[in-house]
Amino acid sequence: MSNYGVLEGKAQAAAVAALQESLVEFVRISLDAKQLHWNVGGREFKPLHEQLDSLADSSRSWYDDVAERIVAVGGAADGSAPAVAGVDLPAVPAGPVPATEAIAHVVRVLAQVGALVRSRLEPLGESDLVSQDLLIGILAEVEKHLWMFRVQL
Ligand SMILES: [Fe+2]
Repeated sequence: MSNYGVLEGKAQAAAVAALQESLVEFVRISLDAKQLHWNVGGREFKPLHEQLDSLADSSRSWYDDVAERIVAVGGAADGSAPAVAGVDLPAVPAGPVPATEAIAHVVRVLAQVGALVRSRLEPLGESDLVSQDLLIGILAEVEKHLWMFRVQL
C-alpha cells in the first residue's frame, strides 16, 4: 500500500524502530520525573520539586512528538505499560527519596537516554532526515535538563 510518498520499505522500518526505542525511553523519563517530583525531600525541596515537574512536562512533549512522527511515517506507536516496562534503565528509587539520590537518578537516566538517542542519529539520517531532525531537537533539550541536574551534584 502506498504511504503517500512519506517513507516506505527498509527506511520506514528503520525510522520507526529508532523512534519507537526513543518513545518508550521518554515515557520512562516522564514517569520517573513525576515519581521523584512527589517523593523527593530535603532542604532544596521546592526548587527540585519544580525542576522535576518541568522535566516531566518536557518529556511528555518529547514522547508525544515522537509517537506522532511514528504514525506520520506509517508506523504504529507503542507507549503501552508493557512496552515501557521493557526499557533497560535503572529503577527509580522507591519511597521517600533524599534530594541527592533523586538528582543522581535523574542524571543517570538522562545521560543514558541521551547517549542512546545520540547513537541513533547517524543511522537514522540514512533513513529519514526529518525524524533525525526531530530527535536532534529533543536531544538538545535532554542535554540541557541533564546539565541543570548534574550541576547540583
Ligand atoms: Fe505536582
